[in-house]
Amino acid sequence: MENLCALTQAALAAVNTAASLADLDKIRVHYLGKKGEISLLAQGLRQLPAAERPARGAEINSARGQVLEAVEQRRQCLEQEALSARLAAESVDVTLPGRGQGLGSVHPVTRTMERITDYFSSMGFGVACGPEVEDEFHNFEALNIPAHHPARAMHDTFYTETGAVLRTHTSPVQVRALRQLAAGKGRLPLAVICPGKVYRCDSDQTHSPMFHQVEGLYVGEAGERTSFADLKSLLSRFLRAFFERDDLQLRFRPSYFPFTEPSAEVDIAWGEGTGEPRWLEVLGCGMVHPAVFRHAGLDPAQFQGFAFGLGVERFAMLRYGVQDLRQFFDNSIPFLEQFH
Ligand code: DAH
Repeated sequence: MENLCALTQAALAAVNTAASLADLDKIRVHYLGKKGEISLLAQGLRQLPAAERPARGAEINSARGQVLEAVEQRRQCLEQEALSARLAAESVDVTLPGRGQGLGSVHPVTRTMERITDYFSSMGFGVACGPEVEDEFHNFEALNIPAHHPARAMHDTFYTETGAVLRTHTSPVQVRALRQLAAGKGRLPLAVICPGKVYRCDSDQTHSPMFHQVEGLYVGEAGERTSFADLKSLLSRFLRAFFERDDLQLRFRPSYFPFTEPSAEVDIAWGEGTGEPRWLEVLGCGMVHPAVFRHAGLDPAQFQGFAFGLGVERFAMLRYGVQDLRQFFDNSIPFLEQFH
């Protein structure tokens, strides 16, 4: 009896000072587990005379109940402490500013292409697209560049195994637009621009095997007498708007393209300072060649139009002061972030 009393006191003291839930469990097992000290006393009842057993059994049960209750209270207490400690450690300061999301930005080439497209859209031009894997007819033949024409060599063409080509310029989209017209789909005046990717087997500081062009085509209504003056006026206004300089000096320099006649290249005066301006070529253009109308199935006696083509990367380089065209395709985040 004395033994039980001391044992109960010891158990309660141990329970009440248990430092952690794990400790508490060990203490519980030590006293109340299958081979725990109090459980062993209960098992010892068998050795007592039958008359003593009920009273002794009741005492042991009561001791057991006390210890169990103490364990339960201590458990709740320790759980509460653990929760408070966790809340303190993981507390969130809701008054701190949010981390925010880094916003991406439009790629400078895309942005330049959109600026160009927006300008021509505002002038009433629609947007047309064509395939990047073209056939030789649309890329060359129909543009008055027959098989043995020296201009073919200038294009550094990628050929596929089946004899198709990766389009070397966006001019074949002109041919597609004209053929639609010949097929009775579409109305005059026909005014379209064709932005897109083009491919040439060429790579250095100012050339990339894939780059972007915007092609423009205008075919006037019957009797409209579309002229080179219209072309010149449109392109001059476009260039001054694009570079945001009303005083931008430009010149139309006679040139040669198989698909236009007459043809010109447009140079802009670039760089500040006195003395001779530095002329930079930015565009090719001209009046649609009769052979192009003919290849598209249109009678050149009845149609007049002009066309132009420009390299988007060149415009982006000039506008943003980028020296090496390859930077546009390096996917360097620090470079691209400058265009936010
Ligand atoms: N296709 C030419 C090139 O890739 C650019 C060009 C020049 C397009 C004159 C035209 C044009 O429509 O009239 O270099």
